[in-house]
Amino acid sequence: MPEIKRIGVITSGGDCGGLNAVIKGVAREAYFLGIESVVIPHGYAGLYNLVQLEQVVYLNAERVSKIEASLAGSEAGHSRVKISKIADPNKYERIKEGLKKFGIDALVISGGDDTGSVVVDLSSKGIPCVHVPKTMDLDLQSYSVGGDSAINRIAVFARELKTTGMSHNRILVIEVFGRYVGHTAFRGGVGAEADAILIPEIPVDFDVLYEHMKTTYFARIDRSDVKSGTYIIVVAEGIKNINGEMLYDESIPPDAFGHKKLAGSGKFVRQQLEKRLKVDPAVKEFMQRTGMFAPGVYEAPEVREVTPGHLVRAGHSSARDVNFGYKAGAAAVFLLLEGKTGNTVVNVEGNRIYYQATAEVIKRREVNISEISIFESLGTCFGRKPEKYIYEIVEQKGRIERHL
Ligand code: F6P
Repeated sequence: MPEIKRIGVITSGGDCGGLNAVIKGVAREAYFLGIESVVIPHGYAGLYNLVQLEQVVYLNAERVSKIEASLAGSEAGHSRVKISKIADPNKYERIKEGLKKFGIDALVISGGDDTGSVVVDLSSKGIPCVHVPKTMDLDLQSYSVGGDSAINRIAVFARELKTTGMSHNRILVIEVFGRYVGHTAFRGGVGAEADAILIPEIPVDFDVLYEHMKTTYFARIDRSDVKSGTYIIVVAEGIKNINGEMLYDESIPPDAFGHKKLAGSGKFVRQQLEKRLKVDPAVKEFMQRTGMFAPGVYEAPEVREVTPGHLVRAGHSSARDVNFGYKAGAAAVFLLLEGKTGNTVVNVEGNRIYYQATAEVIKRREVNISEISIFESLGTCFGRKPEKYIYEIVEQKGRIERHL
């Protein structure tokens, strides 16, 4: 077993909920075991530049007590730097020198798929490191801190937008982060009882969405004694149309990891609905019968897009993310002590620490669309003709372990 006297903590990629709990989990477990821990700031950019740092911040009891686990973001700071892309042939040597300078024997690195790929890379270069899964996108194979916090925030934003939507009888399109998967849009949208949820896993048929919107929204306002209603659409940034084309603003340059920035799907959805509202003769009749029609001024309901952007991963962490972050951070220390470099903490259940090769964990996990039709049968539109829920009844054998 490797002797570890000092651990460096890195957070990398997009920040989110639960990261401060990871940092505290690592620091407190290490302290308990008589191991020191330090912050390596600015993600992998900081790791590359460690050799130039004059001093590192020690996560001693006093410093750790100043970190609030329930706050999102990361006390360790972030960057979207991939070590392999740094234009310096001596980058790995430089990193090793930095680690040596501060007597850092091993790393705990928290991040998503890109961060994980660097964990694999560093580990293969002889730098001991363990990965703690983090991404609000929830696209890793394991649960990752940040997911639950983002879902809850999306649910709150979408739910709260109903008050303004109803006051103006507007159709609201809420575009949320999530990259190429729709986990947070899906779960957050259900949490808000959104009328429609559009996710990358299901190509959007805008005619179907329009018909669902029209039926639901018209009926809602017709039924209301004060003729008030809204229609809420939660849309993931990575959606595609039925031709498989992604619907984002291509003029935005990629990020430092080289990823396309996917902003713009909300605007696209708004335009598609507006186009149909404009030419639909039923719209004028609806506006007239509900007392809203004002010739030349207000002839069709308004569609607005709202983009909470970074708000969905800012602010506070959910209690679930604090729980998972704390125990996954602590578990990462045990994995390092057991020499499990290049691996990810997958879960801690009772006295079992589950881990998996990071190379496996970072393979993209998409929404299991066989679950979508149960929500379609409950009335939510997913931008396609509702499909029948095909179920299988399975008896659970033995103890049910996975609760959190
Ligand atoms: O991967 C997390 C994430 O929040 C994505 O959902 C989003 O596309 C991206 O990060 C935004 O990143 P940045 O803050 O670097 O623009």
